[in-house]
Amino acid sequence: MAGLSKFLNKINIVQWILIAAGILTGAAALVIGVSDNPPGIILLYIGLTCLAGAWVWNWPSPREFWILLLTSLAAFPVGVVLHNLFYALGTLVEGSLILSGLLGFLEALFFLVAVMAVGPTALVALVGGVYTSWQGMSRLTLKNRSYRRFKGNHPIKDRTLWNLVNLARQSASGANLQPLKFILSNTEDKNGMIFPALSWAGYLKDWAGPVEGERPSAYIILLGDRELADSFQYDAGITSQSITLGAAELGLGTCLIGSIKRDSLRKILSIPVRYEILLVIALGRPGESVVLEEIGDDGEIKYWRDEKEIHHVPKRILEEMILDL
Ligand SMILES: Cc1cc2nc3c(=O)[nH]c(=O)nc-3n(C[C@H](O)[C@H](O)[C@H](O)COP(=O)(O)O)c2cc1C
Repeated sequence: MAGLSKFLNKINIVQWILIAAGILTGAAALVIGVSDNPPGIILLYIGLTCLAGAWVWNWPSPREFWILLLTSLAAFPVGVVLHNLFYALGTLVEGSLILSGLLGFLEALFFLVAVMAVGPTALVALVGGVYTSWQGMSRLTLKNRSYRRFKGNHPIKDRTLWNLVNLARQSASGANLQPLKFILSNTEDKNGMIFPALSWAGYLKDWAGPVEGERPSAYIILLGDRELADSFQYDAGITSQSITLGAAELGLGTCLIGSIKRDSLRKILSIPVRYEILLVIALGRPGESVVLEEIGDDGEIKYWRDEKEIHHVPKRILEEMILDL
């Protein structure tokens, strides 16, 4: 029950409007009939497009939309072939009621996939892909929030972590010293060793951090190699931004953690003193909604959580930040 209300809380007003429009238009189509009736077919298409729009509304990056577009385009020939296959098989087993019923069902299902589902899904994927590509960096930096609750069962592969560190490798570095080193973790055991060393959301005084099942799937620990440089803060900032933007593009959520029990983390992971522990980046599939809002007249910068568990982050307005000097 709690899971259902959490899920419903994540559906925003636009999605509710699209769902309502989809159901109403779909129902109207069925009432006036869709068989050989163009107005009914058009209404059904509009209804399905609304429902598909509600489904993809919060997708983070063009990547997901292009994958959906390719999948839905591929579903058309597959649907047609399977529809015909099950039709042909159905003619062979006309004697058996159960078997011919099952094959009839599959034949109709793949007909609906090919004729009804593919069009609206591909349309929504195309529009979403073009729109999110066009928004580019602005959408990505907006999506690149600090998430502190995750879908705990979402694995993150070694390859993904390596690719993210590669983004850091390609980034700027003071005097090109490249003094940062990285420890990667994506296993239950290692994650379990790192988690107790981290402090979460200092402003949320009555929240002790993500519970079991909401914890990050992976961590990237940023270290500064003291044999290569004396200070690391600028490089650590640039590196973190590259990694978190790259993760956001993959639909992952991250949180930078600077409040670390450094001695205990060093001990648990046997990190040599040569390496300064700079930051930990927690990664996972986002399990919460985070929204930006303008700082109010009271100038309060503390983030806060509302009764629907939505995390609000106040940001200064541009006029306050850009000085006219
Ligand atoms: C250097 C740095 C250290 C941070 N350390 C922590 C931390 O220890 N724990 C935490 O929950 N969040 C930490 N954060 C996340 C900030 O709280 C977060 O960036 C801020 O609230 C703004 O939210 P946003 O990232 O969604 O814009 C850190 C962020 C930065 C840049």
